Amino acid sequence: MKKNSITTLNQFIADQQNKFPYVQGSLSRLFGAIQLSAKMINRDVRKAGLIDILGNFGETNVQGEEQKKLDVISNDVFKKLMDMSGDCVCVVSEEDQDIHWCPDGANAKYILAIDPLDGSSNIDVNASIGSIFSIFKRLSPDKPVNEEDIFQKGDRQVAAGYVIYGSATMFVYTTGSGVNGFTLDDSIQEFCLSHPDIKTPENGNILSVNEGNLNEFPQGVIDYISWCKEDNKADKRPYSARYIGSLIADFHRNLLKGGIYMYPPTAKAPNGKLRLLYECNPMAFLVEQAGGKASNGQMRIMDIQPTEFHQRTPLIIGSSNMVDQVIKMMAGEAGGGNR
Ligand code: AHG
Ligand code: MN
Ligand code: MN
Repeated sequence: MKKNSITTLNQFIADQQNKFPYVQGSLSRLFGAIQLSAKMINRDVRKAGLIDILGNFGETNVQGEEQKKLDVISNDVFKKLMDMSGDCVCVVSEEDQDIHWCPDGANAKYILAIDPLDGSSNIDVNASIGSIFSIFKRLSPDKPVNEEDIFQKGDRQVAAGYVIYGSATMFVYTTGSGVNGFTLDDSIQEFCLSHPDIKTPENGNILSVNEGNLNEFPQGVIDYISWCKEDNKADKRPYSARYIGSLIADFHRNLLKGGIYMYPPTAKAPNGKLRLLYECNPMAFLVEQAGGKASNGQMRIMDIQPTEFHQRTPLIIGSSNMVDQVIKMMAGEAGGGNR
């Protein structure tokens, strides 16, 4: 990036289209629709306390979680704009039991998986939240899209990213050639390149995990957490504990500063809490493109074969040496299961 020059997300995508043939016209148009969704959700998030959209919607979603009003609004915005784009076959959303088929999308190329609003328990307390997306290409233009197209491994994502509604609003994404971050300039309502070619440090000193669940974690994870707290000047231990309870916010901080985020299996939830298709896969693609790693403790997240839309998986993600260390300590544990 030249000093004092501005590159908007739209310009950046147009340049990428010239450099990388796979960032084709319809993918960049899809990005246009995602970008507009983000601006519309951002508008509502920014005045959430003023227009009576804080609080619960009064229903639970397919996973039995209480839906916040903004969860529902964000989900509707994404689906409406995908319908309008004509470039999306269907949307798999955290908030919907079934697939949403875009009315004019039968001949489109792309499938979108979304967590329309992540960290929504933080809305009412004005902490950072965000939207996560993952894009796949349909397997064949000649055959109707079916479950096989939707259950592709994370490794086959063509693009993924998130929008964080934090102290500033940022759009961070990858199409498989690095990770770039754009900050929304409110005055012109444009995402402008602020974090080119993000690389995450190999070693970090931030530990992000809900320690309230500690007694239910596998022994290897408990051992790792104790190890993080030991004194060791050489690798800057004890590490700092930071946990907002919003995957996007915890992930974004660790991506930039170096660290590890874990949502391990627990005795009650052996597959953890986070969803493979629209939380773990996109974050895994981003972290790998930034030089980090993402695992479920046993295998690479992006090698997991999905079998359900709302499938959950444990997640260990962040600086590569830190992820390796957890995996090593989990493997060292007798039996490898929960205590
Ligand atoms: P969502 O708001 O989309 O349901 O996601 C919440 C997730 C994730 O953002 C966060 O990291 C995790 O739930 C926090 O869970 P705990 O409160 O169990 O730690
Ligand atoms: Mn979420
Ligand atoms: Mn959500």
